[in-house]
Amino acid sequence: MRTAATILDFQHVTKKFGKTIAVNDVTFQVKEGEVYGLLGPNGAGKTTVIKSIVGHLRPSSGSITISSYDLQKEFADAIDFVGAVVEYPMHYEYMSGYQNLKLTANMYPEVTKARIEEVIELVGLQGRIDEPVRKYSLGMRQRLALAQSILNYPQLLILDEPMNGLDPLGMRDLRNLLRSLAANGMSILVSSHILEEMELMCDRIGIMSHGYMIAERNMDEIHHAQTPVYLVRVNDPEEALKLLSEEYGEQLHAKEAVGGRIEVETTLISASQINRILIKAGIEVQEIHEKKQSLEELYLQLTGGAEIE
Ligand SMILES: Nc1ncnc2c1ncn2[C@@H]1O[C@H](COP(=O)(O)OP(=O)(O)OP(=O)(O)O)[C@@H](O)[C@H]1O
Ligand SMILES: [Mg+2]
Repeated sequence: MRTAATILDFQHVTKKFGKTIAVNDVTFQVKEGEVYGLLGPNGAGKTTVIKSIVGHLRPSSGSITISSYDLQKEFADAIDFVGAVVEYPMHYEYMSGYQNLKLTANMYPEVTKARIEEVIELVGLQGRIDEPVRKYSLGMRQRLALAQSILNYPQLLILDEPMNGLDPLGMRDLRNLLRSLAANGMSILVSSHILEEMELMCDRIGIMSHGYMIAERNMDEIHHAQTPVYLVRVNDPEEALKLLSEEYGEQLHAKEAVGGRIEVETTLISASQINRILIKAGIEVQEIHEKKQSLEELYLQLTGGAEIE
């Protein structure tokens, strides 16, 4: 398989607001045809990352490259690849949705009337497109902003919290739309603090907390969690580790874990076998369970859980 090209290269970016370090030495890349999710609690730095890519903010240090153009030095060339919806989309309230779209379309000579109709259908606004925007709900405004952002077939689509204001059906539609845009080669960077949505929508997720990028996960790895890991609480972790490593070193990988526990990674031995081996050696097994490698657990573990909704 061909390695996908890098569309966005975000390298060691730091953004300070006075003493606040909103984004701290963050590095990540978005590849061609990939949906990349920035996940993190309120204040983690997601919007700051996004604003620095669309040119609303200037990073304090680091570099941002879009399709091999340096955003600082070749802004016009770089931004040409980007479509974006950041925070609260602004529209002309007294104009219709269609007129707002038409204004955006006027900036791109190659966007035809047929393309305008197409994006209206894609975002599901066909029934309401001739009404003034002031009558639109939040979800309808989001849809209109999305329509504007994809009019010109951007190579990189950036959406900050696009699920805001969408009802469950709207979320599902948006998810399907983003997946199909990505399947056609568009790269998408999306931010959210809604874990479940990100899990369903993204190929890769970067978890942010307090300005740092603290982990990156491929959703494939999460969905097809490889080797099971068992957490075993015993009265004598040291002895248990010694026993397991000496007798079954080839078949498993055991190490010490927190709270008087050991962690046993193995595909060859089941939880009940581990239990039996330890008990037979006179070690008391107080608890044994499979460690869930779900994104939720990882997220809670990494962000402390306190700030999650
Ligand atoms: N213009 C600004 N001036 C000063 N501080 C700012 C500014 N913009 C953001 N910050 C601070 O930077 C940090 C990161 O904010 P940011 O908006 O990027 O977080 P976020 O992850 O998008 O959060 P949310 O989920 O609430 O949207 C916060 O501590 C915020 O208060
Ligand atoms: Mg934000």
